[in-house]
Amino acid sequence: MNTYTVTLIRGDGIGPEIAESVVEIFAAAEVPIQWEEAYAGLACLEKFGTPIPETTLESIRRNRVALKGPTTTPIGGGHRSVNVAIRKAFELFANVRPARSIPGVQTRYNDIDIILVRENIEDTYAGVEYWQTPDVAESLRLISRPGSSAVIRYAFDLARRLGRRKVTCVHKANIQKLSDGLFLECFRAIAQEYPDIESDDILVDNACMQLVLRPERFDVMVLPNMFGDIVSDLCAGLVGGLGVAPGGNIGNGYAVFEAVHGSAPDIAGKGIANPTAFILSAVQMLHHLGLHADAERIESALRYTLVSGIKTRDLGGNANTREFTKAVISNLPPRSQVRAQNEPVTTPYYTPMPEPRSTAGESWQTVGVDLFFHALQPPTDLPERVGSLQLHAISNRGIALLPEQTNRYLINWYRARYLAAQPVSEAEVAELLNTLMPRLHWTTVQRLYRTRDGADLFSPISTD
Ligand code: NAI
Repeated sequence: MNTYTVTLIRGDGIGPEIAESVVEIFAAAEVPIQWEEAYAGLACLEKFGTPIPETTLESIRRNRVALKGPTTTPIGGGHRSVNVAIRKAFELFANVRPARSIPGVQTRYNDIDIILVRENIEDTYAGVEYWQTPDVAESLRLISRPGSSAVIRYAFDLARRLGRRKVTCVHKANIQKLSDGLFLECFRAIAQEYPDIESDDILVDNACMQLVLRPERFDVMVLPNMFGDIVSDLCAGLVGGLGVAPGGNIGNGYAVFEAVHGSAPDIAGKGIANPTAFILSAVQMLHHLGLHADAERIESALRYTLVSGIKTRDLGGNANTREFTKAVISNLPPRSQVRAQNEPVTTPYYTPMPEPRSTAGESWQTVGVDLFFHALQPPTDLPERVGSLQLHAISNRGIALLPEQTNRYLINWYRARYLAAQPVSEAEVAELLNTLMPRLHWTTVQRLYRTRDGADLFSPISTD
């Protein structure tokens, strides 16, 4: 039998208590996993002077799979987030959060079974933000074709691997026509490669309503980062909240599993933490490794324990962490009762197919420039035309300034759009910028492209 070595980071706060619970359950269930302990978090900072030592990263690099307890991140200062450091080091591009009803945990529904796959690196989480004026902060919402394709492909592969019926893309492409439009375009293209799996898409606002009204409509969901963050909490709420919400971060050849909740400093050291979410994260890890029979065995013991009324305080029971763990161990079913089969994977990690780089950009032609600038009043002296580039509009908060609208509330960040009917040369762009830049307190310059077929690759300026 294959034995896997997995990096175990117990973390801090309640981390060591819930990690011990998993270690004991895995030992009792004779799961073919050998732990390699590594350190991260507050205790690690005190001991080694860093919240995430290089030896921990090396361990994950070596084993490719890690189970991580929560780690405390100080707010507004202090050391950097361990989670962000790990996510960046291993490019963990997909955050997989299953939400499955647990009998014995009282919620509005008892039949939820959704797997949410959230893009984990891009979107506003790329963290590209700027102050444009003292009154305007800007956050770039970055959506890329390779980034979107990787997470979408992962969602379809996961659906196929787990025998799921449907993948739903959640987006806001009616408003964010280019960025969410790209995410949806990637989804539709990749869906064609999986004819055995149904696919559909839904706007994120409607998705939230449908999740509350008809959650059975969803099976596997795939979303850009920020929507995924919000909607996954909604899904966690549907099945009982933080105490039961597991998760896994999947990257190029690496996977790190952890509960959604944090280090719960308010109850740390009291021995009363609920290990359910962490146990479920470990179960998710077993599925990732192909150890489906071990996963099913532990999950059914956990479910049986909760149904039998043994629960920690956060779920309305009075068991402490140790009592709960012992009960799960005593409820492990015999192996003969488990239907799932172990299918150990020889490469226990996921590497997405490298996406061919799109060559579409070769046919893009520059037809204009958006120049953003800081001004207290709308400028009245901008040239109507520089070379073949014509002043198309001056806008504020995305809306064109029209002479008749004198009572609009204007912020102090404007945009001047210059457009040409035909593609322009670099010399013409330079001439425009040389003319405008000395006149304006400019903050951002944005090139405007059009394809050879005449499609504009920028959003129009709204006149409403
Ligand atoms: P939290 O999830 O740690 O706690 C929120 C509330 O839920 C608390 O009242 C806590 O007692 C309760 N709770 C959470 N997990 C529980 C469990 N397993 N059993 C029983 N009760 C539980 O969130 P909070 O307080 O916002 O964050 C505390 C620290 O955790 C912060 O430093 C934060 O940065 C860090 N954090 C770390 C994460 C990670 O390492 N993956 C994720 C989220 C937060």
